[in-house]
Amino acid sequence: MNTVAILKAVQLLKEGKLVAIPTETVYGLAADASNPKAVEKIFKAKGRPSNHPLIVHIADSASLATWAIHIPDIAYQLAEAFWPGPLTMVLNKAPSVPSIVTGGQNTVAIRSPNHPITQQILKLFKGGLAAPSANRFGHISPTTAEHVKKDLGKQVDLIIDGGPCIIGVESTIVDLTSTPIRILRPGAISAKQISNVIHKPVIYHKTTQKTQAPRVSGSLSSHYAPNTPAIRIHTRALEKKIKETRNKGKTCAVLARKKISAVSHPQLIVMPKDPENYARILYQQLRFADLLKVDLIIVEDVPQTPKWRAVQDRLNRATKKT
Ligand code: TXA
Ligand code: MG
Repeated sequence: MNTVAILKAVQLLKEGKLVAIPTETVYGLAADASNPKAVEKIFKAKGRPSNHPLIVHIADSASLATWAIHIPDIAYQLAEAFWPGPLTMVLNKAPSVPSIVTGGQNTVAIRSPNHPITQQILKLFKGGLAAPSANRFGHISPTTAEHVKKDLGKQVDLIIDGGPCIIGVESTIVDLTSTPIRILRPGAISAKQISNVIHKPVIYHKTTQKTQAPRVSGSLSSHYAPNTPAIRIHTRALEKKIKETRNKGKTCAVLARKKISAVSHPQLIVMPKDPENYARILYQQLRFADLLKVDLIIVEDVPQTPKWRAVQDRLNRATKKT
């Protein structure tokens, strides 16, 4: 681990600068969460609307009470079970949390990321880091330092390379201020896993497009999206769609969980058959498909089973159903 880079990151963050940090889910664009001027730079760099709240990243649950009030016991039980890890909890915000962090809401989203470099940064920084995914607003989240450099290289003061993200999709967001408790964004940790720890029902929250100021920005219908038009299609209609596209004189890239004889590398991107490995490389492969400069990205739909929920959610936003 590069100690010099870690110390540099801590120093820059203390000075109110932006540092891209690795996490197990996706790379984050971090700033001192207690410094409104520093946090403002995040919104500018990403081109993100100011009403979209950010997640505060902390080293561990010991500092939860710095950021939240009326913390229920279940928050500590969840931290014990899943932190550091891909779980973000929405709690009542402490009065000291700058409103720019929470988009003016009275709740705050908090998580402890599981990456050794970022854990060291947080421990030395001794504070909270506001960090959305380190991509331009609406674009695909970055899962390597290279992705961050391409999207935001000029706007960031330092990018810490911590290798490719091992989970590959953003954290599960659970709202502990609602009854029943709701998942606002599905991720690697499921409603069932959460429910098993807290012994309470946990539901998946359905967001509507009509919501004016979305509590979860990933709830916008088009998000996490490649620049190339992208569609998703049922396995049985896949080969017909490829033929049709070509007959119109158009080129396509295909993400499928099986080989397709009509398409070859690099336009054919064979995806893993299990949801964990699929999620891990999904964003990287969507970015790769974008680079191929084809007319259309065709994604084979994934199984409609609970294990695939996080992947289904991201594909629903990255592609149009046909
Ligand atoms: O895995 C992750 O969560 C990554 C890494 C970097 O930690 N971060 C991430 O941040 O995905 P971002 O900003 O791209 O997504 C944060 C989500 C947004 O959809 C935001 O609306 C939601 O968290 N959020 C933040 N504060 C909230 C609050 N008080 N209530 C409800 N949702 C909130
Ligand atoms: Mg994001």
